[in-house]
Formats: sequence, structure tokens, C-alpha cells
Amino acid sequence: MDFNVKSGAADKLRGACAIVAVSAPRRLSAAGARLDKASGGRLSALLKSADIDPELGKTTLVHCAADTLPVSRLLVVGCGKDKQLTPKDFIAVAAASARALQGSGATDALSYLSELEVAERTQAWKARQIVLAARDAVYRFDELKSGKKTPKQRLRRITVVVEARDQQSAAKAGVAKGSAIANGMDLARTLGNRPGNLCTPSDLARQATLLKKTYPSLKVDVLDRKAMEKHGMGALLSVARGSRQPPKLIVMEYRGGKKTAKPVVLVGKGVTFDSGGISIKPGKAMDEMKFDMCGAASVFGCMRAVAELGLPINLIGVVPATENLPDGDASKPGDIVTSMSGQTIEILNTDAEGRLILCDALTYVKKFNPDVVIDLATLTGACIVALGHETSGLLGNHQPLIDALLAAGQSACDRAWQLPLWSEYDEQLASNFADMANIGNGGAGTITAASFLARFTRDYHWAHLDIAGVAWKSGGDKGATGRPVPLLMQYLFARCGKGET
Ligand code: BES
Ligand code: MN
Ligand code: ZN
Repeated sequence: MDFNVKSGAADKLRGACAIVAVSAPRRLSAAGARLDKASGGRLSALLKSADIDPELGKTTLVHCAADTLPVSRLLVVGCGKDKQLTPKDFIAVAAASARALQGSGATDALSYLSELEVAERTQAWKARQIVLAARDAVYRFDELKSGKKTPKQRLRRITVVVEARDQQSAAKAGVAKGSAIANGMDLARTLGNRPGNLCTPSDLARQATLLKKTYPSLKVDVLDRKAMEKHGMGALLSVARGSRQPPKLIVMEYRGGKKTAKPVVLVGKGVTFDSGGISIKPGKAMDEMKFDMCGAASVFGCMRAVAELGLPINLIGVVPATENLPDGDASKPGDIVTSMSGQTIEILNTDAEGRLILCDALTYVKKFNPDVVIDLATLTGACIVALGHETSGLLGNHQPLIDALLAAGQSACDRAWQLPLWSEYDEQLASNFADMANIGNGGAGTITAASFLARFTRDYHWAHLDIAGVAWKSGGDKGATGRPVPLLMQYLFARCGKGET
């Protein structure tokens, strides 16, 4: 789908559909009022007869006679009764209108939503959200459905209309960011949605090579089992033992910043299927453990978006990828392994495998002399208990980095919430037989998991995002969400001085 930006009067710009807003009880937006006037009061009449509902997120499609208006449809979207929308409300309005537009048969639309006032948000932010909402509405994962595919996408173009000419460049910048983020999220979603039999560690490595083909500014390096053995990655290798699929450690490098600028390193958990291993999981919803590589998928998504935008930063994405399966050769509860850092780990539960693969990746990334390291992982079911499906868990060893990530999440409406990493929690990891156990023994599962990782990240500034609750949806909407690509991209924009909201 294409997006562009125009300025001009609503009663002059031509198109298949105009999207205009109405707030309660009957206040049309400026563009809505112009179109109302041009149509001889059509919208006011429909508002009066209550055929148009101004409630937040309600949409009404009105077909118009081609002789009076420059558009053949009006899509009226309700904004509720407050004068100024919250950022969340604006996203809800953009999402509702995108869904309605998608179902309307229109091939293109003029969106006048950017004339809405949104608390503490710029023109660029609104344009970005219009793009993200539209791309979310048209996203489909149908590559594995045979026969009749979902009908071909009719909607081809959305024009973001701004009131004044001088707002065009801001809106264009917002559209560019929105498109790149949407491309990154689409990639993350599609990798996440693919089943474990297709999306294997080797396939993820292949995806990295494919990404490099599209974006030659990327450098890709894949460590195989032999290389891992050479580095002494005993923790990562211990998880891969139970699988017939060879593990891969995928490294993607993007150098868009100054040669001397220390890189941001993203590390994403890439367990392409988590059965629990010998500590096997119950069968219910086990299929959803194909999503246990969504941290990795978001790293791919960010690499793609950053390469597309050519951001002036140095960014390295690292993905430890493996399956976690039971087998005669699989790791057993009680086994003790030596990590790349030299620290020994007693595996009390083979289902706590994410931290085992991450700890070696986190030791490995020291070689990049990182400015900050951020890992993203569908790490603990406990995070869903604590924060549900709205919010990522955030922990780390450097408060300024955490504050920057919290602010980025707030700005992008892809929020995280900090949990404490106090030493009392770390004490739960004590083992009688090794330097540490791989699980705690007294609640706070998200924090003890992060405490484990903290033992491998002492040499640099580090933050950990537990995305177990936000990375995918269950039930009728089952599917990967592409989160937290929006949060991470906002953090990276802010680092480049392009973080305006
Ligand atoms: N991938 C899971 C975490 C998970 C579970 C995410 C359910 C989303 C939904 C992880 O590898 C895991 O199994 N964690 C265990 C840790 C426990 C054994 C200490 C968990 O959360 O139960
Ligand atoms: Mn597990
Ligand atoms: Zn897992």
C-alpha cells in the first residue's frame, strides 16, 4: 500500500473516499464541515437523524453523488465527546477507520484525521499512526492457506491530508517512519506466525541472508554448532541437545553511524519451538510456543526498519536460535553446564531455556563494545500474570536506559513497566552444586529470570524486555503482534535526535 501527503481544501481534493471525524454531540471536523456544506448538509442531516454515531471508534460509510463532491464516499468516524483526544484514542480512531475503509471497496482514500487535536502529539506522530493503523488493518498471514486466498487487496493508497502546506514535510517524515515501522512489524509478525516446522533456526538464518539481499547495508554472520563449541557456549548448546535442528547464532550488523560510535545491540530470544524439553509443558495451547522466537522476530523487524530508513546509528542484532525439545540426548533436570562466561549453571527446569540461550548471547556481544544492550524475550509466563497482555516487563542495570525505554514506549503507545532487580531476588538462584540454578524458588518469576541474565551483563549497560504477554494474541485473533518494534524504533529515533512525538 502507498501513502502520500497533500494539503488542500476537502471540497477540492479528489478520491474514492474521504475520512472525516465527528465528535459528540454533532461537531464535524473542519474537513467534515466543508464536505457537509458542499453536499448540501448531507452529514448534518445524518447526524440529526442519528444515522451517524459520534461515539469513539464508531464508523459510518456514506455514499455520495459524484456531481456535488470530489469523493464518492465519506467515511465518518466518531471521536467521542472530548475536545482533545488522547494518543490512545487517536490510535483507536485511526484503527476503526482503517478497518471500515478496508471493508468498503474503496481503492484509495484521503485521510483528514491529522486535523484532530491530540494531546502532546505532533503532525508527524499522527501521520505515523495513520500509516500504522492502515497497515495493521490490511496485514494478513495467508501464505499457508491453499486454494482460495483472501480476496486481493483493493485498497491501494491513502493520502494523509494536512491543513497547511508547511505541515507537509513533518507529515512526510511521519509517513516514512510509519511505513518503515510497519514493514518491520510485518516481518516480525510473519516470522512469528510461521509454524515451528518451517521457521527453524536454519530458516531464521536464511531470513537474515534474505534481509541482507534487500538491504546490502546489513552484514550477516551465522555461527553454527562448531563455532558455538569453540566459544564455549555450553548453556546455549545444552538447550539445542534435544533437537534434531542445528542451533544458529545469527548476527546482523548495520553501521549507519560514526565509525567511533558504540553500537546499540539488540538480542532476541529465538526459540523456534518451546516444548519445555524434559520438563515438558502441558498440551493445552502448546502450539503457541511457536511464538517463542518473537523476540528474535522483533530484532529482525528493527534491523529492517533501521536499514530502510538509513538511520545514523550503529545497530547490531543478535539472535540465538534453537528448538527446545525432549530427546534421549536432551538436557535433564539436575544437569550442570558451563556458560561462555565460565559460570556454571544447574538446570533445575529445562523449560527455563530462554535464559540459557540468552546468557551466552549476552556474553558474546561484549565483543562489540556496546553502548547499550537490550534483550527482548518471551521469557516468563509470570510476566503475563504480573502485567497481562498490555505491557512489557522491563528490568535492567542502568536507570537512564530504562527511563529512555519507558519514555519511548509511552510515546509510541507500546508501553513497558519497570520491575525491580533487587539482590533479594537474585538470592533465589543459589545452587548447592553449581554457581547458580536456572530457576528461582519463591515467586517473582519475571524478576528471577532477569536476575539470572543480570549475572551475564555486568560489563555494560543493559535492559531486558519480557514480551511474553505482548508478542502475540491468543484466541480468535491468534497471531503475532509485531510488538515491541514500535517501542524500540522510538528509542532508536530518540537516540538520533529524531524522537519528536
Ligand atoms: N517461553 C516460555 C515463557 C512463556 C510461557 C511465554 C507462556 C508465554 C506464555 C519460557 O521458556 C518458559 O517456559 N518459562 C517458564 C519458566 C519457569 C520454568 C521458571 C515459565 O514461565 O513457566
Ligand atoms: Mn520454556
Ligand atoms: Zn521459552
